[in-house]
Amino acid sequence: MSDLHDLLGLAYPWVKAAHVTFVIFWMAGLFILPRFYVYHHETTPGSAEDRAWIEREDRVRTIILTPAIIIVWILGLTLAWITDAWAQGWFIGKLAMVVGLSGYQGWLASYGKRLAAGKRPLDNRTLRIMNEIPGVAAAVIVVLVIVKPF
Ligand code: HEM
Repeated sequence: MSDLHDLLGLAYPWVKAAHVTFVIFWMAGLFILPRFYVYHHETTPGSAEDRAWIEREDRVRTIILTPAIIIVWILGLTLAWITDAWAQGWFIGKLAMVVGLSGYQGWLASYGKRLAAGKRPLDNRTLRIMNEIPGVAAAVIVVLVIVKPF
């Protein structure tokens, strides 16, 4: 086990580079999907346009969001294991933020199902406010991981 730990220690910059790359993919998906929902909101349920948005949203979830969240979590936890970050304040804060961001993705998935069922549960203004969550979360996470204020 400790040999594996040593080996991964050598791989640390590579694991970190891969982590950041998949973070970019994950964030791209988290930015685009709720924007698609804003456009989708304006369509009539059952119309050709409605069906086209359902298809596009499905692709963002299956091709980008689902693989990216899994890979980011695996690589992030690997980095924490290599650096033994578990008890550090910035890491606990970051973990809380990424758990929240993962929950946000769960909410996006359930909102997409309701849109596909012809429902439009939120008004446009609230949906636009919800769109800001990933950007704000990303900024806080980057400060936690780079500035490490605590
Ligand atoms: C999903 C769970 C995640 C875990 C468990 C995790 C964990 C980690 C760990 C332990 C490091 C190494 C930090 C160091 O050694 O200083 C790291 C690096 C980094 N993480 Fe994450 N991370 C996750 C998600 C994210 C997300 C969502 C973002 C951005 C939105 C992000 C951005 C970064 C950045 C920019 C670095 C490089 C920091 C540096 O230059 O040292 N991570 N991550």
